[in-house]
Amino acid sequence: MESLLKEWDGETTIISYDKPTGAWIFIAIFSTRLGPAAGGTRMKHYSDFQSALQDALRLSEAMTYKFALSGISFGGGKTVIAIPCDFDTQSRHALLRRYGEMVQKLGGLFYTGPDVGMSSTDMDIISETGSPYVFGRTPKSGGAGSSGPATALGVLSGMQVACEHVFGERSLNGRRILVQGAGSVGGALIEYLRKAGADVMFSDVEEKSICRFRDDFSLQCISADKVYSVECDIFAPCALGAVLNNKTIPQLKCRVVAGGANNQLAEPEDAERLRDRGILYAPDYVINVGGAMFLIGMEAQDWTQKNMENKVTEGIQTVLQQIFELAAAKNITTEAAARQVAEKRLSSVK
Ligand code: PHE
Repeated sequence: MESLLKEWDGETTIISYDKPTGAWIFIAIFSTRLGPAAGGTRMKHYSDFQSALQDALRLSEAMTYKFALSGISFGGGKTVIAIPCDFDTQSRHALLRRYGEMVQKLGGLFYTGPDVGMSSTDMDIISETGSPYVFGRTPKSGGAGSSGPATALGVLSGMQVACEHVFGERSLNGRRILVQGAGSVGGALIEYLRKAGADVMFSDVEEKSICRFRDDFSLQCISADKVYSVECDIFAPCALGAVLNNKTIPQLKCRVVAGGANNQLAEPEDAERLRDRGILYAPDYVINVGGAMFLIGMEAQDWTQKNMENKVTEGIQTVLQQIFELAAAKNITTEAAARQVAEKRLSSVK
């Protein structure tokens, strides 16, 4: 734990052990340079304390770059609530209320929203004690609801720019696209892609998603062991992180990787591995900012739906285009180019 924190370049980490449930809560604040830190709350079981802390630390860094590139005046943070494997769902409500109290006590240093393992209903509960620092409540409670469709819209916009770069045209019509994870982001992305005329395949382990997309939509369902080796134009990771690594990258048979999951690269070298294989990578934090833009814009900045859609689409396309051009001009990876652009924005503010 000591070395993880020493190597991390962020500002503050708050660690709390929730005795009644045995859950660990990690609130990582990477940067408040552009404004108060904001980031989702991820709740899941981890194999050990270290990997939960590491996830929070890395995700808070990605949030920082995400906001820096999107022009939204927030810093980056993230919470991981690591629940034990025998977690009693009956205690969920009380745990979320205690977590809300922690957020409240931070007094605006950190704002949160939903992430993996969290729903708008959970945000309602957290805001019972954590208001006004909670984004993403249900519409019934005054929130904007699910951010999945807005995230998917941003990913779609990023795919169009990537296609223009690789194939010479933005259109996704007829492109073979594999979506890994058909949950709230992946599922919405599949619907956008079908409307755009793409030839969509998907992969998921949840019975509900499989039934919906394979049986009702008649889409080809790819089994988990083949997901990295299927031939396609675009591979879209929309499930968990670290799916691009030294084992999976050599198997890929796609021209573009563009998806909504956070922290897709297992380690920094994976950006080079992708480039060496001639695969164009649209950095995750550049194209998956749509959800955060939606929640913050609709709930705190009075954006209309149309307004939000334009900002997500145009914002992501402009920045991604700039990143691809910089990467080509300097002969660096798209990940390195994205960092340079983000660092520039961060250092322009005192
Ligand atoms: N978890 C989301 C993300 O990673 C959404 C989110 C972030 C929501 C920050 C509100 C604030 O972008």
